[in-house]
Amino acid sequence: IRDDTEAASFYVANYIIERIKHFNPTPTHPFVLGLPTGSSPLGVYRILVEKYKAGEISFENVVTFNMDEYIGIPRDHPQSYHTFMWQHFFSHVNIHPRNVHILNGNAPNLEAECVEYEAKIKSSGGVDLFLAGIGEDGHIAFNEPGSSLASRTRVKTLAYDTVLANSRFFNNDLDQVPKMALTVGVQTVLEAREVVVIVLGARKSLALQKCIEQGVNHMWTLSSLQLHPHPMIVCDEDATLEL
Ligand code: GLP
Repeated sequence: IRDDTEAASFYVANYIIERIKHFNPTPTHPFVLGLPTGSSPLGVYRILVEKYKAGEISFENVVTFNMDEYIGIPRDHPQSYHTFMWQHFFSHVNIHPRNVHILNGNAPNLEAECVEYEAKIKSSGGVDLFLAGIGEDGHIAFNEPGSSLASRTRVKTLAYDTVLANSRFFNNDLDQVPKMALTVGVQTVLEAREVVVIVLGARKSLALQKCIEQGVNHMWTLSSLQLHPHPMIVCDEDATLEL
């Protein structure tokens, strides 16, 4: 628990840097980093970029896999997760584009896209550290309430609450918000060697309470983290309101 957003972001960014350095990645043995979108990781990305520019970390031998992507908006749409990631992180560091993996929500065969994505994660050696945020309903990636805890990368219909929460990025117009997405599954996340979740603000406090103080269940999919051998939740004071 850290005092505020900045302190929590700083902790997570430094932690990721330490893990990458300790791993000592090479071209043939890269560090595989799973990444989220949303407002929660923005501070982490900003600090990682600052540290890269200060020469404290290199992403040359880092391979990334993003958690999810909307279906039905173009890749270059201002709110696509592709755009988000390049705008806030990838464009500012020395990551090689061939090492960046983001699901293609416009793939002609979405199911094949999901199967290929899982295969790519596997052939890269598996995710070393998955960074995640959570939705107000406790979802991890886009694993909405009711998702199987054994789920893998797949097409998912978004919960009404998620569409509502995301409408702030789409001129508050529900009609413009994508209703479906591609997402890694709960099991895909659980297979990462380490999972770090950043939880910020009072609006996430109920989800945090349900996910860590109650039992493992498929209605609050972050609760599955209780089954993981190396989980870490980094939150600010406000997010602890219900604990
Ligand atoms: C979306 C993303 C999640 C993210 C969540 C929270 O639903 N698919 O990965 O955790 O938003 O977003 P925010 O951090 O903006 O609250």
